[in-house]
Amino acid sequence: MSKKKTFYICDNCGYESPKWFGKCPVCSEWDTAKEIKIEDGISTTKEQRSAVLLLDEVSKIEDKKRLSTKYEELDTLLGGGIVSGQVILLGGEPGVGKSTLALQLSDKLSSYGKVLYVTGEESVSQIGIRSNRLNISKKNIYITTENEIESLLITIRKQNPVFVIFDSIQTIYSNSVDGVPGGVLQIRTVVEKIRRFSKETGVPTLLIAHVNKEGNIAGPKLVEHIVDTVIYFEGERTTDLRILRVLKNRFGPSGEIAVFQMLSTGLKELKDMIFVEESNMPGNVVTSLFEGTRPILIQVQSLVSRDRIATARRISHGIDVRKIIILAAVISKHLNLPIDSHDIYVNVSGGLKITDPACDLAIASSILSSLFNKFLGKIVLIGEVGLDGSVRKVPNLKKRIENAKKAGYEKIIIPYDSINGEGIIKIKSLKELYSMIIDSEEG
Ligand SMILES: Nc1ncnc2c1ncn2[C@@H]1O[C@H](COP(=O)(O)OP(=O)(O)OP(=O)(O)O)[C@@H](O)[C@H]1O
Ligand SMILES: [Mg+2]
Repeated sequence: MSKKKTFYICDNCGYESPKWFGKCPVCSEWDTAKEIKIEDGISTTKEQRSAVLLLDEVSKIEDKKRLSTKYEELDTLLGGGIVSGQVILLGGEPGVGKSTLALQLSDKLSSYGKVLYVTGEESVSQIGIRSNRLNISKKNIYITTENEIESLLITIRKQNPVFVIFDSIQTIYSNSVDGVPGGVLQIRTVVEKIRRFSKETGVPTLLIAHVNKEGNIAGPKLVEHIVDTVIYFEGERTTDLRILRVLKNRFGPSGEIAVFQMLSTGLKELKDMIFVEESNMPGNVVTSLFEGTRPILIQVQSLVSRDRIATARRISHGIDVRKIIILAAVISKHLNLPIDSHDIYVNVSGGLKITDPACDLAIASSILSSLFNKFLGKIVLIGEVGLDGSVRKVPNLKKRIENAKKAGYEKIIIPYDSINGEGIIKIKSLKELYSMIIDSEEG
């Protein structure tokens, strides 16, 4: 026999406690404690009591059941398509393109059967207008504005769809718990009900969620552990590039990315992973950024100018400014260049963000290229720069080189490594690169 267990959850941040609290010790809000009662011990739900299956059999069924999204990049991102009963959480800032992606995905998946689009954010006519703009086939896609999860699940079971989209989970509510839609308790209950539905019926679901400024899915990370897959949609307002990034995936690798371009006709997949605009202006260099399991060719741009004021500025976009400060210090100390008195501005192409240390050499070279007002040529630079001015080995070098060569780059500067080949130049330190720049200037 199971007995009821009571605990309290903060409706603002999700903090859980066995005891009632007036002020939440985590977010400091008052009167946010909500009482929750759950069955203690072994769950007695029907699906769990009957879950005695031979793993060997299950694995065979599951592998066959992957649905292709018909977007090559999206399939790769998901580890080969959508798995039966998979619950996917799609998070992103307002206006990044979540609903657009969801509608385009509905279009593709509607060729397998009915797709149900639950819209709590927008009216049916707004979705109608978008579907015209995106040229979506209207067949097999059903829209509902119902937002109570209990009646929604009854409707969904009747409709027997192949895929269901909830846009967004913050607008859906459950009649079984208190609290406003979008509150911690509501989100948790709604997502748990959807998860149960998906696991029981095998119908995969996509849950759209807004993220707040800190990048947390509102309803603080509470549902990330409930769902199978967490995907974030990232993008800068100033560019049309949109990046889908897998944060967690029970059915594929995490860290994988897919890149799209936002056009008036909708999101278009970018398959070649090259974000370089050819330029022979000083300060422009190309490097290879590794994201997930794939290399991306990107451009780093620097402007180094003589400072007229007391303190030199370091400003960057797409790179942590601390990286620029460190690399400038390395250049100053090990190349003995008076860069401390110069302003340095560094930018990354396409609104992408660099955290990969393999781009260090390119950033440093870009600074040098601007400082000497000299274009370094059509080359790709790959390597980490140590505080001692050394150029260090980086992972996935072979894949990065292949990608660069495929893009037409014949000269590639890399750290000292066992890799040999035509056009490969190996260097051990930033000093060697500096000599190359100086030598080519004389020649
Ligand atoms: N006519 C258009 N031409 C080009 N791009 C458009 C057009 N209309 C909308 N967009 C793009 O679509 C984006 C909005 O997409 P969408 O509504 O899918 O975002 P969302 O993430 O669902 O936003 P929300 O959080 O508000 O629901 C806009 O920010 C804009 O970039
Ligand atoms: Mg939307």
